[in-house]
Amino acid sequence: MTDIGYVDRLVNNLKKQHVEISLFNEVDTEPIDQYVEKGTHIFNENHCDFLVALGGGSPIDTAKAISLMASNPGEVQNYMGFGKVKQEGPPIVAIPTTAGTGSEVTQFTIITDTKNNVKMLIGSEYLIPQIAIDDPALTLSVPQNITAATGINALTHSIEDYISRRHQPLADIFDLSSIRRITKYLRRAWANGDDEEARSEMMLAALEAGIAFNNSSVTIVHGMSRPLGALFHVSHGISNAVLLPTCLEYAIMGIPERFVMVAEAMGANTIGLSPLESAKEGVKLIKQLCVDVEIPNIFGLGIDKNDFMQSLDKMASDALANGSPNNTARKPSKEEIIKIYEKSF
Ligand SMILES: NC(=O)c1ccc[n+]([C@@H]2O[C@H](COP(=O)([O-])OP(=O)(O)OC[C@H]3O[C@@H](n4cnc5c(N)ncnc54)[C@H](O)[C@@H]3O)[C@@H](O)[C@H]2O)c1
Ligand SMILES: [Fe+2]
Repeated sequence: MTDIGYVDRLVNNLKKQHVEISLFNEVDTEPIDQYVEKGTHIFNENHCDFLVALGGGSPIDTAKAISLMASNPGEVQNYMGFGKVKQEGPPIVAIPTTAGTGSEVTQFTIITDTKNNVKMLIGSEYLIPQIAIDDPALTLSVPQNITAATGINALTHSIEDYISRRHQPLADIFDLSSIRRITKYLRRAWANGDDEEARSEMMLAALEAGIAFNNSSVTIVHGMSRPLGALFHVSHGISNAVLLPTCLEYAIMGIPERFVMVAEAMGANTIGLSPLESAKEGVKLIKQLCVDVEIPNIFGLGIDKNDFMQSLDKMASDALANGSPNNTARKPSKEEIIKIYEKSF
């Protein structure tokens, strides 16, 4: 954000409005507890009134956690889970520069606890930014591999949400719309980063997905991707993408009729097929999209197979502990989660 000049643009605009700034630009990747501590220190020391988060999901999630820690006691670890935040924090303006997380409209923040190597999911209505500025022009500079990872992350949100046991009628509308847009425009945004129409549609799709999963829920894919990301330092979008097809193949049997709708939203020709066959067609199209935008598999990420196998037990326990797998229409056991990790390698 600093290197490509976005920070200067923001700072200059705020200065024109006579707003004093304290800059914290050390969030270079997925947020860890130390970023939150440092950011909160800067916030408090400078007697700041509000936060402006500029960047992908990482800076936006960090700003949410800073807002939380600026107004609540203890450590960020104390707030893992849902509804533990008692005090509303200073307001947040979120300006996403990736079309992916939807964090600008959600009540969640995900912070890595570096002592325990766990990605903590914290949920509270107090974490929802007061203002979200979704400007697709800011995403024109996103490199190709990040366009792929963030786009597949948004697709994972809308698909998981749609097949979740906590699905909701209004969220359904946003989910299907988001799936259609991503199917149509992700390849274009990936192939040509300057394609303004594709970038706009992708940003809208990520926003739709965010609004949807904020009201219902993600499921097994996100649940299993957090431990993978925390232990092997795989970025959020990629850790979801490498697990997506195998997790969905597992989940189909819990709610096949909803998978048929996903398949149709992705353009599958389901004429003459049974619901189960149609559902599987959808998973094939998801796999193809991942291949087309060059998403690697776990092996392709350079993770050592022995290390991976030795971590299976911890990853499966952590996945279940974060709660998301339980929202899957087919509830997985620990053994089943281990099998899915093995199969995804
Ligand atoms: N709060 C939520 O609801 C929610 C939902 C999903 C994911 N997340 C979290 O969001 C984080 C991932 O966010 P992300 O996928 O947006 O990635 P990110 O914020 O980590 O950014 C990835 C990379 O892209 C670069 N980048 C971002 N915008 C750019 C631009 N316009 N031009 C050039 N480079 C750019 C960043 O500098 C960084 O190197 C994870 O920590 C994940 O857990 C949060
Ligand atoms: Fe996500």
